[in-house]
Amino acid sequence: MNKIQKIKARQVFDSRGNPTIEAEVYSKNFSASAICPSGASTGTFEAFEKRDKNNKKYLGKSVFGVVNLVNTKISKKLKGFNVHDQERIDTILINLDGTKQKTSLGANAILAVSMAVKKLSAKIKKVPLYKTFLVKNNFKLPYPLMNIINGGAHANNGLRIQEFMIRPDKAKNFTEAMQICFIVINNLRNLIKKKGLSTSVGDEGGFAPMINSNEEALNLIVDAIKKSGLKNGKDVSICLDVAANELYKKKKYSIHSKKFISIEQSIKKYKKIIDKYKIKSIEDPFAENDWISWNKIMKKIKNVQIVGDDLYVTNLERLKKGFLNNSSNSILIKLNQIGTVSETLEVIKFAQIIGFNTIISHRSGDSEDTFISDLAVGTNSNQIKTGSLARSERVAKYNQLLRIEEQLGKKIKMNKIH
Ligand code: PGA
Ligand code: ZN
Repeated sequence: MNKIQKIKARQVFDSRGNPTIEAEVYSKNFSASAICPSGASTGTFEAFEKRDKNNKKYLGKSVFGVVNLVNTKISKKLKGFNVHDQERIDTILINLDGTKQKTSLGANAILAVSMAVKKLSAKIKKVPLYKTFLVKNNFKLPYPLMNIINGGAHANNGLRIQEFMIRPDKAKNFTEAMQICFIVINNLRNLIKKKGLSTSVGDEGGFAPMINSNEEALNLIVDAIKKSGLKNGKDVSICLDVAANELYKKKKYSIHSKKFISIEQSIKKYKKIIDKYKIKSIEDPFAENDWISWNKIMKKIKNVQIVGDDLYVTNLERLKKGFLNNSSNSILIKLNQIGTVSETLEVIKFAQIIGFNTIISHRSGDSEDTFISDLAVGTNSNQIKTGSLARSERVAKYNQLLRIEEQLGKKIKMNKIH
């Protein structure tokens, strides 16, 4: 009943129209499938995404090689194992690969299998996926971090900062959180239209108007919050993902304008916009190897969530280093940065022990797969970052959270952010 009979993979496409891998795991009576997402502003230390470099027909982006690996080597190896034994299966996959960054099998092949195994286990047990992670009862819903203006590597508008997000801090439940985001986004659309700018969207569903100053984007959001009858910094907070890896050159940064300036000056400017726009969270304010600057910003800026994404790449060793260095107070969690469900859970557990906020995240290239919604609830993560209220691959995650909220009943609360 519980034994893996075979695994079948196939090439499908992600939200950017790029090839990606879907794996389907079969037991005697059931099967479950999962799709691996893909980033654009990736960290150097992420697990390796394997593609067919030499396949010209797909511009080197196809994944037939890893599909074949799953259908042969991986399927053969996992045949007969108990599908409920996630840690054992993930360890076998890690050992079968045998490299530090999963370069041999490819983290995309490994993760698609790992997630599909998890889903199949829940299906056989007849329990919702969110009930199969760390939390056993007393579930809470995460606050959505909605990326409503896209810049950086996710748009071609010249905005330095990659993501301008809103977080509905005063929402009493997830339904209300969605309503607040909905109203702010609609007011933002009207304000952008009024300026004669395009309301078309970027990779994560946020607007990508042709503006190139961070402050212009921030002013638009502040106005949209006001127009919605809400208070910026109270009802709704502005949060940023700078993705500073892309804005770093020789110990200088071009975060605040095209000009590269020193770390001290960059922090001063951060302080200015934090005060002016009541910004509550900044992800990747500095580059992935610039540990000193991370520590400096932690010392100089208080009461702001400082989030490590490319800094940690969901990797336990890097998280430990960051903790000892006092580099941040929160971590972004992306399954495909590390490559298995078990390793992801291990990182979340450690992060929560040391008092970090855990933010479960999509990738800019994503799919209809809603695994991360269940993961957020099932790990007591207090935030989820999965784009704007546009593009079905983003909305699918929010819709899944609405279903979970409904299942859990009216009394269910939002998770606290510390
Ligand atoms: P990515 O962007 O998926 O393109 O890496 C998301 C992020 O930086 O948080
Ligand atoms: Zn990021």
